[in-house]
Amino acid sequence: MTSVVIMAGGKGERFWPKSRVNMPKQFLSLTSDGKSMIQHTVERLKELVKIENIYIVTNELYIDLVKKHISNIPNENIIVEPIAKNTAPCIALAAEYIAKKDKNAKMIVLPSDHLIKFNEIFIDTLKTALDVVEEGENLVTIGITPNYPETGYGYINFKKAQNLEHNVYEVLKFEEKPDLEKAKEYLASGQYLWNSGMFVWKVSTILENFKKFLPEIYKSVKRIGETIGTPNYDKVLKQEFLSILSESIDYGIMEKAENIYVIPGNFGWDDVGSWLSLERINKTNQDGNVINGNVISIKTKNSIIQGTEKLIATIGLEDIIIVDTKDAILICNKDNTQEVKAVINNLKICN
Ligand code: GDD
Ligand code: MG
Repeated sequence: MTSVVIMAGGKGERFWPKSRVNMPKQFLSLTSDGKSMIQHTVERLKELVKIENIYIVTNELYIDLVKKHISNIPNENIIVEPIAKNTAPCIALAAEYIAKKDKNAKMIVLPSDHLIKFNEIFIDTLKTALDVVEEGENLVTIGITPNYPETGYGYINFKKAQNLEHNVYEVLKFEEKPDLEKAKEYLASGQYLWNSGMFVWKVSTILENFKKFLPEIYKSVKRIGETIGTPNYDKVLKQEFLSILSESIDYGIMEKAENIYVIPGNFGWDDVGSWLSLERINKTNQDGNVINGNVISIKTKNSIIQGTEKLIATIGLEDIIIVDTKDAILICNKDNTQEVKAVINNLKICN
């Protein structure tokens, strides 16, 4: 059996003011088709698994959003975290859930907030990864050819000479979020891929890795696992999550584990990391603008304007981002999109 686990409990602060604590990036619609990122994520899997084999791990805060966006997901496939503790506990808990049903199951882990252009290639890549996992106790990740020194991603040093079959490479080193200097060096070397944050393994393999590298998380999810389907479940889940280590799968397991393989994914991956990404994923008009909503733009070039019903009129702007919502407006120079997080930090201090 193959199950897919979609991680949908992140905050996505860089899309403020559209993304909020109660409306993170995975539930936003950033493409012209009006579908949210999580809807795209589930739809993409249509040819690979049935909805009964898709699990969505999310925070308590987002249960209603998950049900609204993915209306056909069975209730028991929504795994709820009482507190966000990053991706390691999320994955361990999902693995434990799936192992309870089938301890030999294979598990695909996917983020809920990425876009992919070429779906057929994506599905083929996952199928190749499933084959590699079938062959042994391997951890497989999907890599992306880097084109600039991003410091917000994981970097995968792969053994170029060891192209096994089907474009599968042995991983020498996994490094999460290097500094800029290292990222530049890795980019120039041609020996690194970005980690896409998508993983494939057997549930038994990943649980063994938790036992070895994150034993406290392992013990905690085992205690939760024992109560699945019993009246004690909610209480034990809450108790364990209060004290469970907050850790990402990348730092906690991928940087330490052995038997990692990477498959380069050439399926038009986009992490949609900031407002600037809208230029890549949407059509621009003749002036190079990406416009949504009720907007009159005069002598306005290369700008991103996201409105609502309220009319926005712009005159003589260039390289500007405007995002209007009911209670907040962002007006930002395109060079400063990464600093949107600073607004949130300010808000936190003010509150
Ligand atoms: N359920 C749950 N609980 N999901 C979570 C939590 C949590 O506590 N924290 C994050 N997620 C979800 C996010 O919603 C997202 O879909 C996914 O897990 C990845 O989390 P991010 O917070 O977006 O991770 P990142 O962008 O810093 O880094 C990861 O992704 C990069 C590629 O986009 C890493 O895997 C990097 O190595 C990778 O390059
Ligand atoms: Mg991310």
